Amino acid sequence: MSLGELAAARRTHKAFGPEPVPREMLVELLGLARLAPNHHLTQPWRFRVLGPEALARLKEVAGPAEALKLDRAPTLVVVSAALTGDLVQDEEDVCATAAATMLVLLGATERGLASYWRTPSVLRTARGRDALGVARGERVLGLLHLGPPEREPAPREREPVETYVEFLT
Ligand SMILES: Cc1cc2nc3c(=O)[nH]c(=O)nc-3n(C[C@H](O)[C@H](O)[C@H](O)COP(=O)(O)O)c2cc1C
Repeated sequence: MSLGELAAARRTHKAFGPEPVPREMLVELLGLARLAPNHHLTQPWRFRVLGPEALARLKEVAGPAEALKLDRAPTLVVVSAALTGDLVQDEEDVCATAAATMLVLLGATERGLASYWRTPSVLRTARGRDALGVARGERVLGLLHLGPPEREPAPREREPVETYVEFLT
């Protein structure tokens, strides 16, 4: 697939098959993050692949209703940016981590995986972060859901390019 085809094929999936993403494929996918642009080569991205014990701890903190949503995909990966406290650097590092995350999502799409970038509220709480060992200096960007697609999501229309691009003289 060309990059344009891949970008168009990546969609937010909320229904997944049960098979987890094999570890070797995850290492390949998360290895794509290294290629993202990042100022001063800080390489701020951190990825935590949740095993059964980590998931159980997170569900315990999340409570029963939220815990159900954490069962939607067979493979969950927490994405965070390791920050320094320098405001400019931190902003750039969050941007770089988002760019790295997009590479992972496109890599997943290329491999026929469904994906979903979610920001569950439990990861904004100190207890949720502690359950996964997220350090105080890290900004959590989301919880990536990965796995086999169960069904295609409905199309989501975007505004045409003219609505958000200006060519300045
Ligand atoms: C930073 C970020 C956080 C997101 N958090 C959520 C979320 O918590 N819940 C949700 O349903 N979708 C979430 N999404 C997915 C968007 O809703 C989705 O990308 C958007 O609806 C467009 O659909 P598409 O991904 O299929 O193109 C998030 C996306 C991003 C980039």
